[in-house]
Amino acid sequence: MKVNGTPHRTIWLDPENATVKCIDQRWLPHQFRIVDLPDVETVARAIADMWVRGAPLIGATAAFGVAIGMQADASDEGLEGCYKTLYATRPTAVNLRWALDEMRGYLTPLPPSERAPAAMAKAIEINDADVEICRMMGVHGLEIIRKIANDKAKAGKSGPVNILTHCNAGWLATVDWGTATSPIYHAVEAGIPVHVFVDETRPRNQGAQLTAWEMVGHSVPHTLIVDNAGGHLMQHGAVDLVIVGTDRTTAAGDVCNKIGTYLKALAARDNNIPFYVALPSPTIDWTIDNGFDIPIEERDGREVSHVWGKLADGTVSQVQICPDDSPLGNPAFDVTPARLVTGLITERGIAPASKQGLAALFPDRASSA
Ligand code: MRU
Repeated sequence: MKVNGTPHRTIWLDPENATVKCIDQRWLPHQFRIVDLPDVETVARAIADMWVRGAPLIGATAAFGVAIGMQADASDEGLEGCYKTLYATRPTAVNLRWALDEMRGYLTPLPPSERAPAAMAKAIEINDADVEICRMMGVHGLEIIRKIANDKAKAGKSGPVNILTHCNAGWLATVDWGTATSPIYHAVEAGIPVHVFVDETRPRNQGAQLTAWEMVGHSVPHTLIVDNAGGHLMQHGAVDLVIVGTDRTTAAGDVCNKIGTYLKALAARDNNIPFYVALPSPTIDWTIDNGFDIPIEERDGREVSHVWGKLADGTVSQVQICPDDSPLGNPAFDVTPARLVTGLITERGIAPASKQGLAALFPDRASSA
């Protein structure tokens, strides 16, 4: 997608100096910073400290991490060390394990002398594939938005298709396009009027800081709302559709996503509003059925007690919003049971959120799990 009118990815290999670079998302929307990822330790820090985040981008970054690690030590021990270091960064998004398994599976049979160039080529392949997967989710998801627009027109209802989204499942969470936002960007390109309600998404405010920045950058009509406003808006007919992303979806269609997603699904169900999840296939964990078996990341309480923002003098800083001594809890994800999900938008089409639905679209993956 574009930054100041210029096409950009979130992570890329700079051909000029053969260095992997990424957008350091911690500074958005106030500062646009690009950083180098010179070694595996820096890549691991970039994932754990959320310079990069979002399930697909975590996987894409880990693939580059292995490639960078192979340049320093391409032995079997080096490969295993990279895998372990990167795997320990964040527990919930299964794309991390998927990308590391892809890289290790591809590199292990090769002699160490061939691994470094092969690893970089494979990482680039995984990154390019992510872009295509996200583009195709947009192509399929567009039809949901088009149908709602047509139905509204037939019913004589004026105005855009109002879509609510949670967290950042935008291009910043992937290599490009985004998952939940890809149908939205495709709808805008198709000339369908849309308006997006962007949940701020406490504690880290990925909606306020990242999704809103994306919407501004692509001139998508939107309104930033506090997390607790969604239910009220749904009760008053202001929301036509909810689309969110996911960090891990089970083979039976239970969806784990940013904390607060479950509450939006409950409110959507209570108000008869379709609730879709944009799901790239590397985010499916074919090894489990029950969403409550997914490990939920517990992050630093400081993300709850403090918020980042821009001060009046333009500096970006953190302020504390609670008493010094309040105990803090910070579960980063929750599970929305499949029964609350209207459909899963994948790169192969839209599946019912069920074991049969996913297996019908991905018979090759479901059977090999
Ligand atoms: O903690 P984050 O910012 O990595 O969480 C991101 C999300 O929860 C996204 O909704 C999810 O990864 C889907 S991204 C396309």
